[in-house]
Amino acid sequence: MPTMPSSSMRRGYIALVVILLMAVAALAQQTDTAAPAQKLPIWAYPGFPPSPPAAAGPKGAEHVPGSTASYTAAQIGDLFVVPDWFPKAHPPMPEVVSNGRKPGVFACGHCHLPNGQGRPENESVAGLPTAYIVQQMADFKNGLRKSSDPGMLSVTNMVLLSKSVTGDDVKAAADYFSSIKLKPWIRVIEVENVPRTRIAGGMLVLADGGGTEPIGERVIEVPENLERTELRDPTSGFIAYVPKGSLEKGKLLVTAGGNGTTMQCTMCHGQNLQGMGNVPSIAGRSPSQMTRQIIDFQTGARNGSLAPLMKGVVTKLTIEDIVAITGYLASQAP
Ligand code: HEC
Ligand code: HEC
Repeated sequence: MPTMPSSSMRRGYIALVVILLMAVAALAQQTDTAAPAQKLPIWAYPGFPPSPPAAAGPKGAEHVPGSTASYTAAQIGDLFVVPDWFPKAHPPMPEVVSNGRKPGVFACGHCHLPNGQGRPENESVAGLPTAYIVQQMADFKNGLRKSSDPGMLSVTNMVLLSKSVTGDDVKAAADYFSSIKLKPWIRVIEVENVPRTRIAGGMLVLADGGGTEPIGERVIEVPENLERTELRDPTSGFIAYVPKGSLEKGKLLVTAGGNGTTMQCTMCHGQNLQGMGNVPSIAGRSPSQMTRQIIDFQTGARNGSLAPLMKGVVTKLTIEDIVAITGYLASQAP
């Protein structure tokens, strides 16, 4: 008789443990399937929603200030054409940069611009180490680097062309872009409210009708001059609006690791963040580009041979941290 209560107590206890374990397992499963750690911020991955037909503008020659060149709108939209508004401002472009190789290799200079300054929907490539560029081309080709958002058509195109470009062309393009110095391109402004924006061609542009809205935890990067950006003028840069306080918070994370949130970026990217050895520069570059890279390292969409070095850096970063970090990085001299 005395054993009765204790054995039923034990049975009760075991049952309780089993139920608890089941609950934990169920919870784990739930968090497993609910896994996407965070929603991709639309301002960094604006994608390419179908845009309304372009207004029937003049069909003749287009111009940008300070250039005697002229191109038609059709040429400016052609992935095998590089509108070269200022040919004397950069070294002679290798064939693959200026014309690409038909059918599959679009001209590098079309997207990245002849001087490698890049645009928010792609990346700046000027001044990156040759070996780093060659490595990234191999990563794209081998499926080790893609976008966390398959809707980023610009990245899809980059991956596509990496599959058919030859080693010689990669080397020529890498030497070319590596030889050019990245120029200041982003003007960072801390604000509480931003101009309202809409998505066009993989980037944000001012919304028709104007107006402002709270910035929230976002970086809003827009062309300084939309018309010149649309003409692919490689001398017309971008404004990045960031939340008030971002620069100070970003500096703490970048230079001191934010008290254990991350590692000091300067350790590997150099004291001035302008790169060290084959580790790329992260100073003065587009915050939308840099945000995508940090998130792509987090999700594993970017997983090349050197990506493990960034894993420990990005694991704990929240979107607020990333906004502050990339705003601060963009504000630094390239
Ligand atoms: C259709 C537009 C397009 C063309 C043409 C293009 N790229 Fe890219 N490139 C991109 C995009 C988009 C990215 C990645 C942006 C991202 O990850 O968010 C990229 C990224 C890169 C990177 C990685 C830069 C970094 O900092 O990690 C390199 C290097 C590069 N491109 C080189 C080239 C070369 C060389 C060519 C010509 C053979 C070329 N690209 C042609 C759109 C293009
Ligand atoms: C332990 C070394 C190390 C540290 C610390 C480090 N990085 Fe990196 N970072 C790298 C390497 C190596 C790469 C190139 C990875 C690759 O090839 O995919 C890289 C790439 C990047 C890129 C992509 C650049 C591009 O051109 O696409 C960004 C953005 C970046 N790091 C940001 C940061 C930030 C922000 C910090 C600090 C919070 C940081 N890194 C700290 C080693 C490091």
